[in-house]
Amino acid sequence: MNKKNLTTESQIAGDDANDALCDVPYEVSDELISVENVSLIYGSKRRPMAALTNVSFNVFPGEFVCLMGPSGCGKSTILNVLAGFIKPTSGQVKLNGLPIAGVDRHRGVVFQKPALFEWFSVFKNVAFGPKVMKTPKEDIERQVAYYLKSVGLEDFADHKVFELSGGMRQRVAIARSLITNPEILLMDEPFGALDALTREQMQQLVRDIWWRTGKTIFFITHDVDEALKLATRILVMSPRPGSIISDEPSSFARDLLEGADERVWFSEEFYKARRKILGLVTGRK
Ligand SMILES: Nc1ncnc2c1ncn2[C@@H]1O[C@H](COP(=O)(O)OP(=O)(O)O)[C@@H](O)[C@H]1O
Ligand SMILES: [Mg+2]
Repeated sequence: MNKKNLTTESQIAGDDANDALCDVPYEVSDELISVENVSLIYGSKRRPMAALTNVSFNVFPGEFVCLMGPSGCGKSTILNVLAGFIKPTSGQVKLNGLPIAGVDRHRGVVFQKPALFEWFSVFKNVAFGPKVMKTPKEDIERQVAYYLKSVGLEDFADHKVFELSGGMRQRVAIARSLITNPEILLMDEPFGALDALTREQMQQLVRDIWWRTGKTIFFITHDVDEALKLATRILVMSPRPGSIISDEPSSFARDLLEGADERVWFSEEFYKARRKILGLVTGRK
């Protein structure tokens, strides 16, 4: 797949742009991630278990892509392939046109159960990446302060992780991923274990971070409302062995950030989109 976003000067500059430039199409961006015909088989030669079959999709810079699908269809497997934790049995996965060969700092990962150092302070957890990268001490302090503020934890730098609530732990995990400035944030059902109110606050936080930073986000969720409240695009997978059965844009999150009323969550349009995705995920019409 080699989908490109084509646009014209006038679309970017607005209606007043010079007419002479209007018909000059050019490439705004290439795909950041490309997944081409990826299949993945777990197990042994004698007892193979196909998890993914011919999965293809792209992620473009600045997108917020949500991946949905029935339990066990291979969502986490895809994320693990994108992270570089596992290699596909066949097919190609690329970041900026280069094959993903293993784990590196270009992709930040946030799991449902944050992998943090429990007995370390919040500061030390967030400072971990820059320290490994041998960043000078003053820069680390400045960066940690900045990212703790951006996740609303500026007053918790000295707290130990074991003292924190689930939502606060996820804030630490997000700050720890963002501080290494990855090209894409990969999130695997990060709010799945949180209570409803905290989940909503975390959704708002991630949506705001995405909007503010322009960071590309690839986000797995089993919650249709969550996908519709966050995504610019929603991918839906079939049951195992998973493949992509739907790939559609979604505008609710962007509309909200651009000032739309929160009542959009209760609109007929939202309800229709919800029903459609739910139908695709569950296989019911
Ligand atoms: N390391 C593994 N070895 C063998 N089978 C696995 C492994 N990881 C996942 N699976 C199986 O592959 C399928 C897809 O798993 P997963 O990607 O975790 O699904 P999802 O995240 O969509 O729930 C499931 O049937 C799961 O049991
Ligand atoms: Mg999973």
